[in-house]
Amino acid sequence: MLQLSSLTDLPSNIPASSVLVPTMGALHEGHAALIRAAREIAGASGSVVVSIFLNPLQFDRPGDLADYPASLEEDLALCRSLDVNVVFTPSPAEFYATDHSVRVSENLLSRNLCGAARPGHFEGVCTVVLKLFHALLPSAAVFGKKDYQQLAIIRRLVRDLFLPIEIHDIETVRDPDGLALSSRNLTLNQEHRADAPRIHRALLAARDLRETGEQRSEVYLEAARHHLLHDAPAGLQIDYLELVDRENLQLLPKVAGPALLAAAVYYDDVRLIDNVEI
Ligand code: PAJ
Repeated sequence: MLQLSSLTDLPSNIPASSVLVPTMGALHEGHAALIRAAREIAGASGSVVVSIFLNPLQFDRPGDLADYPASLEEDLALCRSLDVNVVFTPSPAEFYATDHSVRVSENLLSRNLCGAARPGHFEGVCTVVLKLFHALLPSAAVFGKKDYQQLAIIRRLVRDLFLPIEIHDIETVRDPDGLALSSRNLTLNQEHRADAPRIHRALLAARDLRETGEQRSEVYLEAARHHLLHDAPAGLQIDYLELVDRENLQLLPKVAGPALLAAAVYYDDVRLIDNVEI
């Protein structure tokens, strides 16, 4: 496995046709599932490239960036064990010129959900992903449905800017208790970690209303809100809970076609997100 930590190592060391898995490190089984999917897409003769870059541009709260877990040695070992060909670990100083002045923004899908809650977040994501695509020239890239809005926005980025890159997705990987795996789970205290599966349970309980033929969004949202807040521990706060169209992520008054129920929840200052398709 090759580790490239400078842009000057590119592109001569980058295989001609590769599948990219962009990450911010602190890798877990969710990332491993993406890497396995990339391996499958690349085939025996293709290459898998994993980028590990804690992108400062997408953090709207400085404390969140400072507290983000890092485990480069373990990350590299995991990549090696998953047969990754190249790991790209650029430094922020090299990745962004001090006076960088061009960013990429998406202006429809990023209005709601995390986009409304975290100003500038998706501009940071679009900018870093486009730069990674340009630097590494992959033929395909894989993203997780756990960050559903991010995935939908990346598909738009590719469509609207004519990027010759196939976007693949994978289902959310969960702990046995239902909590969606996230690097942030490591920063929960014990009580909050034990409670956090309630997020997925709340979304599933609301989704079950589908079986009754219910169409009113407010009924779904009220059911999810009830499960999120009922007997909740101190420190739990709903950041957002929304029902949106799965394609354009706009708010839905009625659940008639493909919908997404998505939530972001704070446990003290740890923010967790999850979603279910309806
Ligand atoms: P990060 O949070 O490290 O996630 C990297 C990829 O792993 C994303 O595509 C995310 O959706 C996926 N992922 C995370 N947890 C998952 C889970 N439990 N199941 C399935 N997939 C999961 O997302 C980012 O980094 C950044 O925004 C990035 C795209 C790298 C740009 O900086």
